[in-house]
Amino acid sequence: MKRDFLSINDLGRDEIESLLEKALEMKRAGKKYPKSLAGYTLGLVFEKASTRTRVSFESAMYRLGGQSLFLSSRDTQLSRGEPVKDTARVLSRYLDGLSLRTYSQAVVEEMARWADIPVINALTDKYHPCQVLSDLMTVKEKKGRLDGLEIAWVGDGNNMANSWINAARMMGFRLSLACPPGYEPDADVLSGAGENIRMTTDPNEVTRGADVINTDVWASMGQEEEQKKRIRDFRGFQVNETLVKQAKPDAIVLHCLPAHRGEEIAAEVLEGPQSVVFDQAENKMHLHQALLEWLLKERS
Ligand code: CP
Ligand code: NVA
Repeated sequence: MKRDFLSINDLGRDEIESLLEKALEMKRAGKKYPKSLAGYTLGLVFEKASTRTRVSFESAMYRLGGQSLFLSSRDTQLSRGEPVKDTARVLSRYLDGLSLRTYSQAVVEEMARWADIPVINALTDKYHPCQVLSDLMTVKEKKGRLDGLEIAWVGDGNNMANSWINAARMMGFRLSLACPPGYEPDADVLSGAGENIRMTTDPNEVTRGADVINTDVWASMGQEEEQKKRIRDFRGFQVNETLVKQAKPDAIVLHCLPAHRGEEIAAEVLEGPQSVVFDQAENKMHLHQALLEWLLKERS
């Protein structure tokens, strides 16, 4: 039975642990890792811009001996209205897996419903599960564990925040989110969240004593018109040196990138000694290798 990865909730705790271990093993092995996906092809259908996710998926396939096909939605018949359910069935005949970046979570769900091959959510307005999986890898790599850590989220309750909540629920670490009023994570994602997940409107509260501080842009892709309003509404939510000083001295700072220096994060923090953002970006490739090997080969 094929498996899809549309949200963190599609994986169990043990599966996440194994994927993180595998990704760290693959990182250590580098190009010496066996070409376990020789003959396999991944399709990438992207309806939004991407640097890291696209390139790290493509590199992950090549490093494992497979290949990838980038399919800008503009160039496929999807842009001319061919139904997702037809596209899904056709692409399933050519490909071994499909990574999809789009707006609505319903579209990745529709693609997965009709495709015979694993479908991977490469970002929707609701979730960014691949990013959070590789961020968990980065936390594990830097801190040696997830259990018992205090992880802070400062900023928008967006697709990244939603996926972090799912991850905290699944893995049990403590997650404290500070979002301005009106910019909370989705209510259905928050509902039923356990005591390890805390919401507030005060960034100081969540960064005090934190092991990990995490933020993301204030206006995500598709929200460009709200940029000016959001800059006003997010005043006080910048991850700057004052906030970072309140965290543990060995706290790390995460940002999935792209970053807007001087908005959600101060340049001194992004470029500072506690920032691990470029290791974080690299880890996307190693994590994608682990995810692809597992979904395309071991699960098929
Ligand atoms: N972090 C991330 O998903 O970056 P891209 O938009 O460049 O893929
Ligand atoms: N929240 C951001 C993440 C970009 C990787 C967006 O959706 O644009």
